[in-house]
Amino acid sequence: MGPNYLQAAVAIAQEAGKILMEEFSRPLDIRYKGDEVDLVTQADKRSEQLIVSRLNQEFPGHAIAAEEGTGQETTSEFRWHVDPLDGTTNFAHGYPCFCVSIALAQRDTLLAAVVFNPFYNELFAAARGQGATFNGKNISVSKNATLSTSLLCTGFPVRNRKLSPNLQYYGEFTQRSHGVRRDGSAALDLACVACGRFDGFWEFGLNKWDTAAGVLLIEEAGGKVSDFEGKPYQLGGPVILATNGYIQEEMRQVAMEISRRAPGS
Ligand code: IPD
Ligand code: CA
Ligand code: CA
Repeated sequence: MGPNYLQAAVAIAQEAGKILMEEFSRPLDIRYKGDEVDLVTQADKRSEQLIVSRLNQEFPGHAIAAEEGTGQETTSEFRWHVDPLDGTTNFAHGYPCFCVSIALAQRDTLLAAVVFNPFYNELFAAARGQGATFNGKNISVSKNATLSTSLLCTGFPVRNRKLSPNLQYYGEFTQRSHGVRRDGSAALDLACVACGRFDGFWEFGLNKWDTAAGVLLIEEAGGKVSDFEGKPYQLGGPVILATNGYIQEEMRQVAMEISRRAPGS
């Protein structure tokens, strides 16, 4: 039998979660990456340091793409996508919607995924072909079949906020659904689609480490992930549309209609 990637990723995410909780209880040392909206805390850095060193110990030679830049390129076909703290802005304001997100891909195929919110002790996990779980129990996407009865979620970029077309989509989808939440952690948003709390999610401009784990969770929970044109979502692609599958086409049609009305978006 090959290595149990998921088991290792879960253990590492839980260790990183302990670090986040330690940091959450202490006064913050906030730095800014660019302007004064793009935060990076001691927690992002400490969590990443732990995850990268533990992955290197367990799987020497694997490539690691980690948000704070301490991973490494290698010639391996295995690549870990690591967001050591997704939801940094929430974290910095004491709003407990944040997580660790870790996923493993072999070339273009996602094999294992973990999203862990240590504040609520909520652990979402998936391995290709083996389904998705929430705190050890199997999960599946919701069965809601119409947009008008759906609860949705989206997010807005931290950088270049003025260039984001998303306010138009936010307004339109708000009017056509039970509402659109904006929770500030893309990885948790996707995990919430996987377990049926949300029926659909979309966002522009996410990075690979934001979405890799959530995408596998949704696929293994029976949902669907694409771009607005209906093509398979590529990690790091310009837009992601992730739903329970039933409302994918309806959401996609609405999104296309908005983009036709607002060229350039
Ligand atoms: C951010 C969160 C947020 C999303 C932003 C991301 P970070 O990640 O996922 O929900 O809207 O686009 O950058 O910076 O907290 O790791
Ligand atoms: Ca992130
Ligand atoms: Ca992050």
